[in-house]
Amino acid sequence: VVGQRSKNISLYETESTQDRKINLYSAKTGYCKMMMTQNKTSKKQKRFGAFIAIALLTILTYFHLAILYIAPTIATSHHVKPESMVLELIEANARIQLLESKVARQRHQSRVYQKYNVSDPPSQFITSKENVLDMLPSISQGGRLVYVITPTYDRLLQKLDLIRMSQPLMLSSLVYWIVVEDLSNKGSTMSHRVRKILFESNIPFAHSSSVKTEDSSHFRGVEGRNEGIRIVKKLGLPGVVYFGDDDNAYDYRLFEEIRNIKRVGVWATGLSGNGNFEACSLDSNGIVTDFYTNFRGRKFGVDMGGFAFSTDVFIDNPEWNINIAHTARYKMEDSIVSSLISEVSQAEPINNCSVVRFWHMAKPSIPKSYSRKVQMHGRNEHKFLLATD
Ligand code: UGA
Ligand code: MN
Repeated sequence: VVGQRSKNISLYETESTQDRKINLYSAKTGYCKMMMTQNKTSKKQKRFGAFIAIALLTILTYFHLAILYIAPTIATSHHVKPESMVLELIEANARIQLLESKVARQRHQSRVYQKYNVSDPPSQFITSKENVLDMLPSISQGGRLVYVITPTYDRLLQKLDLIRMSQPLMLSSLVYWIVVEDLSNKGSTMSHRVRKILFESNIPFAHSSSVKTEDSSHFRGVEGRNEGIRIVKKLGLPGVVYFGDDDNAYDYRLFEEIRNIKRVGVWATGLSGNGNFEACSLDSNGIVTDFYTNFRGRKFGVDMGGFAFSTDVFIDNPEWNINIAHTARYKMEDSIVSSLISEVSQAEPINNCSVVRFWHMAKPSIPKSYSRKVQMHGRNEHKFLLATD
């Protein structure tokens, strides 16, 4: 209650006949608040308290007996519909499959990744097609991969962002994570920081790098995404491609819900497009007609995290990638989607465009002190692992 406002706190007590009140008073701000009241209870009051407690206990016991008697009658009168049982079974089966694939992944990962023993600096690594099939057996039975392509670059919050992003990916079942480091800064190399997060996530991954060209320097992450696309094509396993920036927030269920997109899927996203959300709008037949967004002037009002597309687009067009020559600034998403489908009605709405599983995060303002070196005081000079390492 007193919080940061009062620096000089003085305590005084007031004694009344029954209550002893302790008041906190800040001389500096004159901010005064009663903090607690201690009752000096009289004998009479104590007896009254005991009476109330016994009465409550008796009432509760009666209630309990009543529920035990009534409950079976309620249960038998409730008729369970067969359809809902089937749905429940399907859902349970899906959950079992998810668990099985997680177990398989754990079992195979030790064999595939052995131990963390990589060159310094780390070089490009791509979990092979064979290893993916080994780690995720349901892919061979027609399960579709979700390729999550994440461009990233060296900065104070990079580790925090990538760790936070890796965890929903670890919870989902058939994900292949492609992380591409932007090495545009002179002399920068691929990092152990990124590699360790990928290695420890236990999911199939590719770790690669890209460099911005003069033309692409205004488009954040575009070279990284195109490098990711090259890797997807090289792997050749069927699935869905999703551009997941490293600084946003994801619900793992998103990755379960988009894997069967036929060409391009769109959905509602939080805190995007200059508003609290952005979403596709549907007609009564469930066809996408337009987008709710405060960022007008685009055909497809979606954020980078609000759409995904099938790898089938590479069958029709093996050369497909993000073409900055056809991209206006801040409208990269619109040009990507427009290069895949021409009409909004062709976009496949996920969750009826009404569930948010992705939030675009604004850049946090970082206090200056975060980059200040910590002054060592104690005697033991053990090596610290920095939060950013
Ligand atoms: C917004 C969109 O969310 C991006 O998807 C889009 O690429 C960008 O606008 C744009 O049109 O330029 P915003 O949140 O402002 O992005 O940008 P960042 O989050 O800083 O960057 C997007 C992605 O590119 C991130 O994954 C980031 O790590 C990566 N990036 C950023 C690089 O790889 N290199 C950079 O120099 C900067
Ligand atoms: Mn961002």
